[in-house]
Amino acid sequence: MEKTKNIVYILAGIFLVSLFLGCVGTKETKLEPRADGKALYDYITVGNNYKTWKMWPGTGEMYPRSTEKPSEPHGVFLTTYVSDNAYSDIVAKKGILPDESIIVKENYDADKKLAALTVMYKEKGYDPEHNDWFWVKYQPNGTIDAQGKVKGCIDCHDLPKDMFKDKSNDYIWSGDLS
Ligand code: HEC
Repeated sequence: MEKTKNIVYILAGIFLVSLFLGCVGTKETKLEPRADGKALYDYITVGNNYKTWKMWPGTGEMYPRSTEKPSEPHGVFLTTYVSDNAYSDIVAKKGILPDESIIVKENYDADKKLAALTVMYKEKGYDPEHNDWFWVKYQPNGTIDAQGKVKGCIDCHDLPKDMFKDKSNDYIWSGDLS
């Protein structure tokens, strides 16, 4: 009888310790940007809310999409937020954006209703052939429609090289980086 009691105590002890470790574990999980749609969404909405970032230099909220560029897929009105590291290199005309750059584009329809979030995130070594960009498209509730080395995104974002004097403009359409 005594033996069974001891076993019960030990099991209860293990259970409590694992609960405790579990809690500590979750608390220590820091939200970091990563080339993973879910992790990146948590980072840009909770860890470092993109709504607090600066907008692409010279743009404001819900500007009409450019008619000189093939921007139909992005909807009618756009708001474009950029992470601080990207913002400074855009302004400094560095020609290329730094690792860990994040660009979040809100895509609105003709009624100014949010239709999608399209995001570019640069992770060192992720896709060296295409300047390491990770591409992702979210529905307004965060559901992922496409993510990764998305061919459609890459192919169209490869075109700015024809428009800007730099050879690639780092797959960026919104403005000349150099
Ligand atoms: C048919 C062409 C086309 C496709 C496909 C496309 N984009 Fe874009 N994208 C553009 C254009 C053009 C702009 C600039 C819009 C403007 O200034 O009016 C842009 C802007 C952006 C920006 C702001 C940074 C920049 O490059 O200017 C992000 C972020 C972005 N797109 C992400 C994506 C993602 C993610 C996908 C795929 C799910 C995608 N795009 C697919 C044409 C495209």
